[in-house]
Amino acid sequence: MDTINDTTYYDFRKAIHTNRLVGVWRMMSGFHLAYGGATLALAISALAKTTTLFLLRYFADLVAGDAQPLDGGMTETFVWIALGFVGLAVVEGGFAFLSGRMAAYTAESVTRRLRNFLFDHIQRLSFIYHGKTPTGDLIERVTSDVDALRRFFNEQAIGVGRIILLFVINFIAILQLRVDLGLVSVIAIPPILLVSLWFFKKVTDAYEKYQEQEAALSTTLQENLTGVRVVKAFARQEYEKDKFEKDNWEKYLRGKLLLLMHSLFWPLSDIVLGFQMLGGFVFGAFLAIDGQITAGTYVAYVGMVVWLIWPIRNLGRLIVQTSTGLVSYARLMEIIQQPREPLTEGIGEAQRSIKGGLVFDKVSFEYEDGLPVLKDISFSAQPGQVIALIGSTGSGKTSLVNLLPRFYDYTSGSLLLDGLELKEYSREFMRKNVGIVEQEPFLFSRTIRENITYGVGREVSQQEVERAAEAAAVHDVIQSFPDGYNTLVGEKGVTLSGGQKQRVTIARTLLKNPKILVLDDSTSAVDMETEAEIRAALNRLMENRTTFIIAHRIQSVMNADLILVMDKGEIVQMGRHAELVKQDGIYRKIYDIQTRVDEELEQELAV
Ligand code: CTP
Ligand code: MG
Repeated sequence: MDTINDTTYYDFRKAIHTNRLVGVWRMMSGFHLAYGGATLALAISALAKTTTLFLLRYFADLVAGDAQPLDGGMTETFVWIALGFVGLAVVEGGFAFLSGRMAAYTAESVTRRLRNFLFDHIQRLSFIYHGKTPTGDLIERVTSDVDALRRFFNEQAIGVGRIILLFVINFIAILQLRVDLGLVSVIAIPPILLVSLWFFKKVTDAYEKYQEQEAALSTTLQENLTGVRVVKAFARQEYEKDKFEKDNWEKYLRGKLLLLMHSLFWPLSDIVLGFQMLGGFVFGAFLAIDGQITAGTYVAYVGMVVWLIWPIRNLGRLIVQTSTGLVSYARLMEIIQQPREPLTEGIGEAQRSIKGGLVFDKVSFEYEDGLPVLKDISFSAQPGQVIALIGSTGSGKTSLVNLLPRFYDYTSGSLLLDGLELKEYSREFMRKNVGIVEQEPFLFSRTIRENITYGVGREVSQQEVERAAEAAAVHDVIQSFPDGYNTLVGEKGVTLSGGQKQRVTIARTLLKNPKILVLDDSTSAVDMETEAEIRAALNRLMENRTTFIIAHRIQSVMNADLILVMDKGEIVQMGRHAELVKQDGIYRKIYDIQTRVDEELEQELAV
């Protein structure tokens, strides 16, 4: 019966609201009826409970001789009373069950679509956002905070309705018995509620701090796992352990504070409520002794008071627990209110196809305000040309090529693609047309074939896949695996070497057949011979596409149509290899060092 699409999609951005309760209510959009049903079922269940008490009163009065039996005589009356008790118990239990089911349904459905929404939303946020948000923090929010909300919907949201209903029903019932009895029974309630609300604020703050610390802890854990090799290589286990213990201790302290607050509040509220109950019992007892109320009324009253105080006791608890749900709501809304990257805004496939001519004119860019990473970059590339970037680490090479698929938008200057400002093209279009082999290759834990065909968006024949792999000089390696192209990569499969990974990502990008190809240090982990092989294959493939090559080896860049030498975010030299070696500058220095090293090597080998 259950199918994957059975919950209607809901855009949780509509649930952003400064009032957290309103926001949470909006999150339940489409399930308000189910929630209402759950509350109604609870009301019926509570009513049955109270009715039982009225029946009890009648029963007690009957036994004491204060009430009259039915027309059919005593025995028949007892039978009816017994049936009444059974019937009411069934109604009470049945509706409580129904209510629980509907609450669970609401909670599970709302959080499932919330999780789906978050997953999708997060992958649509900008590079800038991802650049500065720790992964562990995001994971914490999508798991722990969503779960806190699930509990909130399942227990607290319904609980509040139930408690209010129980209170109202039993209060009215007691008033039915005797008005002064009713009033005496609730004297302590208003102050308890006030204290609960004050406490609610305190706990909310404390819980917020607790969640923050938990997120910090998952970030530490996540980073430690990702970087486990570095940790081991630098023998930093002790340091990392201390850091984790410190974070964990902080979490413990914050958790302890929360528990302390709870352990102070509950006994206190229980004592007050205990006295309240006792006061009512004593007052009722005097009335009964005095003959003002019957024994049956007293018995029923005792039952009702229990059901009056019990909800209040839980209301305090719920108010406090609700804070966790509301804190989680706010923490999730921080993600949800982040603007998405507009993917399709601008010129798309339908309007234009591109040739790949680029003109940079005084392009500047900064990740953070006031810290320029690229300064007045000007050069142009004809369609089909090969542009090489060389320069010290951190000089802005990756930042420059990342402008092309619009991962980031330049902050000033003009960048024309085929005569039109780059920002006019949609991001989706640019990402389709610019293929980047990233500096840090990333492969999914899927098969090699899936990794190579990732993002092609159409059926690809095995032949095509193999051709791309051959061009990337990785076909033979893949063939040598027992499962060939169906070999799993990563945790459950083979672990590829750095160079193999790079070459698989090259194959992936080649298969995409982009108009603009960017190789960001893509052959750094590959030996010279293999690199030459890849370069030869690329030379064939580079025709008709503008290619950017970032490399540290002179051999990789010397055949380029234009070489840009970068330093501290600026182009300090520009030209072809033959010109640049003649100039006094960084390029010559790199060239000299590298040829000297090569010569020395050759000499050593010759000996
Ligand atoms: N930078 C940043 N935020 C990022 C990426 C980079 O602030 N998300 C900064 C870096 O600190 C660096 C500058 O931008 O100072 C240039 O970085 P990058 O373009 O990555 O340098 P590359 O020239 O690519 O360096 P490498 O050769 O090491 O890859
Ligand atoms: Mg780089």
